[in-house]
Amino acid sequence: MEIRDVAVVGLGTMGAGIAEVFARAGIGVVAIEADEQALRSGLGALDASLSRAVSRGRLDGAQQADIRARVRPATGFGDAAGVDLAVEVVPERIEIKRQVFAELDRVCSPDAILATNTSSLSVTAIAAGTRHPGRVVGMHFFNPAPVMGLVEVVRTVLTDDRVPAAVADLARRLGKTPVEVADRAGFIANALLLPYLNHAASLLESGYATAADIDMAATAGIGLPMGPLALLDLIGLDTSLSVLEVLHAEFGVARYCPTPLLRRLVTAGRTGRKAGRGIFSYEGGRATDATGVAGSAGSAEAVDLADAPDTVTVIGSADEQEADLASALASAGLNVTRNAAHPTDLILIVAEAGQPILPTALAAGRAGQAVGAHLPSGFAAGALVELVATSLTADTTMRTAAALAARLGLSVVRAPDRPGFLVGALLYPHLADAVRMAQDGYASATDIDTAMTLGCGYPRGPFELIDAAGAADVLAGLRAMYIAYGYPAFAPPPLLAEHAAAGIDFAAVRRARPAATSDDLARSGPAR
Ligand code: CAA
Repeated sequence: MEIRDVAVVGLGTMGAGIAEVFARAGIGVVAIEADEQALRSGLGALDASLSRAVSRGRLDGAQQADIRARVRPATGFGDAAGVDLAVEVVPERIEIKRQVFAELDRVCSPDAILATNTSSLSVTAIAAGTRHPGRVVGMHFFNPAPVMGLVEVVRTVLTDDRVPAAVADLARRLGKTPVEVADRAGFIANALLLPYLNHAASLLESGYATAADIDMAATAGIGLPMGPLALLDLIGLDTSLSVLEVLHAEFGVARYCPTPLLRRLVTAGRTGRKAGRGIFSYEGGRATDATGVAGSAGSAEAVDLADAPDTVTVIGSADEQEADLASALASAGLNVTRNAAHPTDLILIVAEAGQPILPTALAAGRAGQAVGAHLPSGFAAGALVELVATSLTADTTMRTAAALAARLGLSVVRAPDRPGFLVGALLYPHLADAVRMAQDGYASATDIDTAMTLGCGYPRGPFELIDAAGAADVLAGLRAMYIAYGYPAFAPPPLLAEHAAAGIDFAAVRRARPAATSDDLARSGPAR
């Protein structure tokens, strides 16, 4: 069935973005809000986005006018009577969603598809409350809707076969990639993303690392487009909190239990970018840490290059990383000694993920002067170095090491001497969640990688990241975290252990035995 005319109910940040996506694709949109004021604000957001596209030369004035003319504002449901599809984008409360669906059910033709953009609520529960549950489906966009390339198409046990196929076709017409999933809290992307964001917020809250360091570890260390704390502010802390609550209620595992900091900030009205303040403050056009968590001031704390020493001792296992670091130090004009018996004022211990540096620092005899240096993605210009402090490392030593790293052109984050340091502590449990999702049979590795690259802008999906790091290294990092903390979320999933033991990457298995993607499933009819 061809979808020519749609209704979008709710013009908040996501709704306005979704209305824009439809209108840009040549589809007529009835834009429905509860009252004139909400309507004005939603249309204002849509207009601002179109004007930005014009100012960047992506649209001309005539195209802007055409797109805008396709949007028909309304404050009642009556105008939705003739549409082929209605998408509900109202706040994440089941009673509000049900009310909207009751109205749509009453007004729309029985052939029209009714979709919800819910991030986490049960599509089945929404469908079951309508007169024609077979036409109800999830159509889940990602923020910012005009930019992110994924649409999760959520089928319930009640959904008619024609419906997900039609919605997937429509998503393609919008220039998005559909991934079909069964109705389970968080679907693919949120079920993986939110616990990772929650974990990042708990690392901030516990003083494990600063807000600036956590975000830098994700961007410079993993290559993600945004740090997890900035992303929480973009999604909205209130939305993030409610998605976590639903995930926690559905799966009952601690990883989904919202860290108290999130609830505190939401209670205080600091819901993120839209409120001007969340984890960061956006007042004055510049994001600054605003949590007031002890020790959360950015480690982007001014580095004085004059603090850099002339001589440094490097201790390591004589591997490539140590050789690279030593030669970079030498070419920066430093005297490098590798003789731990006569250590200098700064002892750099080339750290290995999963291995504490404290024993080496103690063996060197001057633990106050010893700092671990871990290069998560190897040594390259502009690369990230994790400076690892033991509980004996002096503050002046950290400053000296940071100045040295800056002199080498490295970005710096500070991490405690705990398994995974900072990059691994963020990444390994996130990758384990992805492996568990595939292991549980909820989604294929291919669909998971597609969801995270197109929905969240990852340069590589979780399975590609595991392949790049090596399953054995990810396994070792997780094991060390699990032994140290005992959290079930850190327990290595058997599927990862199998890949590590067999020495085969996930891509090789996909090549040999291509996993069914959601597209294959759509072609072969309903399998679930
Ligand atoms: N609306 C419209 N367009 C926007 C936009 C917005 N809010 N924000 C950015 N853009 C556009 C810009 O205009 C720009 O377009 P052009 O190239 O045509 O000029 C393009 O996006 C890139 O923007 P910037 O150069 O300003 O910034 P960037 O390169 O840093 O990209 C980003 C910004 C796209 C947001 C990127 O940082 C990113 O991909 N971040 C990850 C976002 C993410 O994970 N989203 C999913 C959240 S989870 C979710 O939404 C599901 C849920 O249910 C909770």
